[in-house]
Amino acid sequence: MTYLTTAISYPNGEPHIGHAYEAIAADAYARACRADGQPVRFLTGTDEHGLKIAKRATENGETPQELVDRLSTNFRAMADRLDISYDRFIRTTDADHKIVAQRLWKLMADNGDIYLGKYAGWYSVSDECFISESDLTPYDDGFLTADGLPVEWTEEESWFFRLSAYQDRLRAHIEANPKFIRPETRRNEVLGLLDQGLNDISISRTSFDWGIAVPDSPGHIMYVWVDALANYLSGADGQWPADLHVIGKDILKFHALFWPAFLMSASLPLPKQIFAHGFWKLNGQRMAKSTGNVVDPLDIAERFGSDQLRYYVLAETPFGADGDFTEGGLIARVNADLVNSWGNLIQRVTALAVGLEDDGSWPRVELAVDHPAHVLGERARLAFLDLQFYQGIAHWLEAVWSCNAYVASTEPWALKKSNPAQARQVLAEMISAIAILNEVIDPIIPRASMMVRTMLMDIAHKPSPLFPRIT
Ligand code: MSP
Repeated sequence: MTYLTTAISYPNGEPHIGHAYEAIAADAYARACRADGQPVRFLTGTDEHGLKIAKRATENGETPQELVDRLSTNFRAMADRLDISYDRFIRTTDADHKIVAQRLWKLMADNGDIYLGKYAGWYSVSDECFISESDLTPYDDGFLTADGLPVEWTEEESWFFRLSAYQDRLRAHIEANPKFIRPETRRNEVLGLLDQGLNDISISRTSFDWGIAVPDSPGHIMYVWVDALANYLSGADGQWPADLHVIGKDILKFHALFWPAFLMSASLPLPKQIFAHGFWKLNGQRMAKSTGNVVDPLDIAERFGSDQLRYYVLAETPFGADGDFTEGGLIARVNADLVNSWGNLIQRVTALAVGLEDDGSWPRVELAVDHPAHVLGERARLAFLDLQFYQGIAHWLEAVWSCNAYVASTEPWALKKSNPAQARQVLAEMISAIAILNEVIDPIIPRASMMVRTMLMDIAHKPSPLFPRIT
């Protein structure tokens, strides 16, 4: 069983391309695992408590529950529209999650890792975390975060978690498990944080009440990150530990330091791997609602297709690196790879093979083991199983090009007249290669892959244009 998760998104606005990317990548991996014969459990959802949500609700004149009920729906709709094959869409306001988060708290408390203190410091509502003054930029009579957002001075009674006690165990675990944090650059970043030393962290709040109650501690609600991280246990359905947490690079510290320490404290096994992907810009600029520089993934899917969006984001940049989303880039890549290469191969081969069928099915032959469809297809498959989508797509595309080159050089349209048996052989090889490459690319473009599969099963299915050229 492979249990994987995405981060859960704050439903304080509309989903954007960053949220879509994470879900798409995790989904491509889930589909690759299923195709490999592994049973999969795939969890995604929304992170609904905390000050950020509470404040947005107040601004909107609605209750936090009304706000999250309304906006969580959009995240779920996005996942559905992009064919994200999740098993559960978890919401941190779900009743079963609250029980699990409280159980986790009790385990940490029973282990002697939680103590009462007083917190005084700067809080970033947008990041939902305390930030030390040395990491802030002075501005007016206050400070700004690295993203240029204001912080609030916070002083209140708070429960603390003894993070400092886990420093050595965390380091030992990360050093003994080179693939625990990927990619390598992120692993080094975490080791760097450990070098600086870990302070205990404040894990409850008393100045507002939109959160899960701390057990036996009236007036305290859990710090939203304790609540949020516990979702991975709530949604595990008996499959703990998780095999993979897919997250963005901005929330590495919470997943690679806080979360493993909480689990160690609770005597629970650690996730096997944390993969931190990069950030998307939009037209070279940071995405931000304040500047209107945002793109709606549903709109992109409506205009260009969900497979087209999935393919573009996974093919455009190596998983782990940053990317720049542009519509021109999406159009160019989809036209070059899916329309002119893959779609064209299928279109040409099936059109030429009509009339050459065996008993009503497409002509097929067994391909040699060293055929590019096998060799490059297998490389692509293994790359996807290692979260290397960009590299895998490159192998797959090379196989598609090689098939197109073979068709161009053998000229089956001419052979059909001069040497029908030879034409049949070439087209049968290409139908077989298409069948293989179609299964390979299924995790990335599942809709198109299903159409091609159906078409190859039944010759009566007229080859319709799979990928209309986009302009
Ligand atoms: N609620 C927390 C995560 C809790 S997980 C226990 C959170 N939510 S978020 O809505 O801000 O972000 C959700 C995910 O989207 C994160 O993994 C984040 O890194 C990712 N992205 C947000 N903006 C992004 C881009 N511009 N590009 C790529 N991914 C981005 O953090």
